[in-house]
Amino acid sequence: ALVDKANYRHFMAKEIHEQPEVVGHTLARYVDMATERVTLPVKLPFDFKDIQRVSITACGTASYAGFIGRYWLERFARLPVELDVASEFRYREAPLRKGDLAIFISQSGETADTLAALRYAKAQGAHTLSVVNVPTSTIARESEIVLQTVAGPEIGVASTKAFTCQLMVLASLAVAAGRARGELSDADEAKLVHGLVEIPRLMSEALTIEPQIEKLARELSKSRDVLYLGRGTSYPLALEGALKLKEISYIHAEGYAAGELKHGPIALIDEHMPVVVIAPYDKVFEKTVSNMQEVAARGGKIILMTDAKGAAEATIQSLVTIVMPDMGAAFAPIVYAVPVQLLAYHTAVVMGTDVDQPRNLAKSVTVE
Ligand code: AGP
Repeated sequence: ALVDKANYRHFMAKEIHEQPEVVGHTLARYVDMATERVTLPVKLPFDFKDIQRVSITACGTASYAGFIGRYWLERFARLPVELDVASEFRYREAPLRKGDLAIFISQSGETADTLAALRYAKAQGAHTLSVVNVPTSTIARESEIVLQTVAGPEIGVASTKAFTCQLMVLASLAVAAGRARGELSDADEAKLVHGLVEIPRLMSEALTIEPQIEKLARELSKSRDVLYLGRGTSYPLALEGALKLKEISYIHAEGYAAGELKHGPIALIDEHMPVVVIAPYDKVFEKTVSNMQEVAARGGKIILMTDAKGAAEATIQSLVTIVMPDMGAAFAPIVYAVPVQLLAYHTAVVMGTDVDQPRNLAKSVTVE
């Protein structure tokens, strides 16, 4: 075979472990380490200053990468971003203006709905930019601009390394846009680039937590439902965590914005409902802590992923903490994706499912 599992039991495990390397390759393509500037490998046919609106469209895991990219584009470049899943975008008759920027994200570059959405945006006169892993794919060929992820072939049906590489590209793009629009100074850019350069090393560190996650997975595998919570960029990562767990372990999971807990899902909380909380130490950390207190008060079991263990454990008992490496919060989801993926992976292994080929799923959905 062209690609083998090396010493891993599943492609998914291999692909999770490859991430520091392939995210590093992707980084090297978009960031000039010497000048500490983001340098896109293609010349854009527009000036970011002239862009009024961005739309991001994708399916599944790629759409969660897009959701995180939206936070970055809005924060660093002050660009308003609309986000859709492709199956909705292609039919909702979204009014795009000529010269708007439409971004599409796809590992395979062959997803039928994403391709149809791309063709729709093109017909509306929008600039089309695709973040794809397969450079010879249909989506790559039909896009005005292609930003390639350098993840290498992804074999496991559950997307892992393609996701983190998509995030690396979107983070770089958002920094480039912020610069071009005058929203980021040289110093801001240098600081953000420092943050990006650290990521492969932080991902390697995050991988060393695997034995602890393996133990937790044994517990998680006994549950019927799991809730994932996060705020800010951790919210789309919570959605991704829930998707990952569902698709390979067949355990029902939901991702929610932590602030939405009170608006419904808190009714589900009891001692049988594990809650995975993704909470890097950022501006909204304290808010998430108060959501955890609400969960703990109702007997919910919390698995917390954070780099601020002390701050959380001071106020909450009955907490299992997955201690993440210390890092700035800007790009935390790229690193926190690692424990999120490992938790789903090991739970599926305990359940004895076909991890690389989960039932009912195809690697690339080329029909509607
Ligand atoms: C991810 O784990 C899924 N199997 C799925 O959601 C996937 O991300 C989606 O089908 C999009 O695929 P693409 O990136 O190849 O377009």
